[in-house]
Amino acid sequence: MSISIKVKEGLAASSWTVKAFDGRAQTVSGEELYDFRLGNPKIEPPVEFVEELKVVANNPFPGMHGYSALAGHAQAREAIAQMLSKERGLNFTAHHVIMTAGGAGGLNIILKTLLNPGEEVIVLSPLYLEYPYYIDNHGGVCCLVETNADFTLNVENIAAKITPRTKAIIINSPNNPTGTIYSEESLKSVARLLDDKNREFGKDIFLIYDAAYQDIIYDGNKLPDIFNICHNTIFAASYSKPLSIPGERIGYTAVHPEMENSGELMDALTFSNRVLGYLSAPVLMQHVVANLQGVCVDRAEYQERRDMFCDALEDLGYSFQRPMGAYYIFPKIPGDDVVFVRELAKEGILVLPGKSFGRSGYIRIAFCVKKETIKNSLPGFKEVMNRFM
Ligand SMILES: Cc1ncc(COP(=O)(O)O)c(C=O)c1O
Repeated sequence: MSISIKVKEGLAASSWTVKAFDGRAQTVSGEELYDFRLGNPKIEPPVEFVEELKVVANNPFPGMHGYSALAGHAQAREAIAQMLSKERGLNFTAHHVIMTAGGAGGLNIILKTLLNPGEEVIVLSPLYLEYPYYIDNHGGVCCLVETNADFTLNVENIAAKITPRTKAIIINSPNNPTGTIYSEESLKSVARLLDDKNREFGKDIFLIYDAAYQDIIYDGNKLPDIFNICHNTIFAASYSKPLSIPGERIGYTAVHPEMENSGELMDALTFSNRVLGYLSAPVLMQHVVANLQGVCVDRAEYQERRDMFCDALEDLGYSFQRPMGAYYIFPKIPGDDVVFVRELAKEGILVLPGKSFGRSGYIRIAFCVKKETIKNSLPGFKEVMNRFM
């Protein structure tokens, strides 16, 4: 069939994830599948979300389901601006916020807005596997930069990849797939590097901050405030993970209030939201999230799963950095990751190979699942590790 060559290649390369969306819970012969492939949370949304949804549904008003303004409803944008101003100590207004179709919608409008054909975007590896596709969607070139062995930022590696064609760097912290939170000091070094390069090249390199997991943090860790570190920040946030509503496709993008020409940038982001076909973010959800700033699922639920899974996997001989945030474990495994993944599949355990995230020799395990799924999968994890030891 005459589909585009690029899409055909993308389909072939993403076969692991595409299959993961088929949603089967059992093997053909009826055995339980332990599915750790997707960050599609099995923890239900917080009660505040359900209550607010009822309030909105029970108080309809004319035009409620019509198109919203392209940048989103003023009420939602103002609520977010107020929350950001309070948390960050900066003067955000509704004019610095645009409602988006999830974090993914935000990343796509940002990249469309910034990129001329052939301009480069730096992506840190291991990486969220959709970034190269999102960059390619808008004619950009993805430049991978390795992080250190412990997945911390390697600023020299980043510096070596910056060229006059560099338009942006994407930073995702807490990170998918590694669970790393980048330190304040390392982020400040990146910000200084961008300032130096901006002076050298007489242009702006933007820091696109993917904040998908900003609320899922463990052990009382603090997330460094990127807005107070880099004035060239464009922030892509999402309600998918904090409210456990990824299917509802709602998030927001915010630009640093002190960024030069932020008005022009906001107009451009709004234009991109329109012409990418989103028009505006899903409108019912805009009404619902307006009153839910700061609401989040019980993080203790995820921390409990992380601890039980990490403790058990360590005992079985798996080695990994214990995630500081997000809900993925990224163990280094002996041998080839694709072979290891196939062996786990024979035990009914589904995970993704590290090579899908730019780092072979690892596997990614999403632990946003029921506790029984973790518990019941452990004999299979043990069996496969024993085969490789
Ligand atoms: C790192 C990262 N960024 C962005 C997204 C997109 O999330 P959404 O579009 O549901 O907000 C995800 C989803 O899993 C993610 O892991």
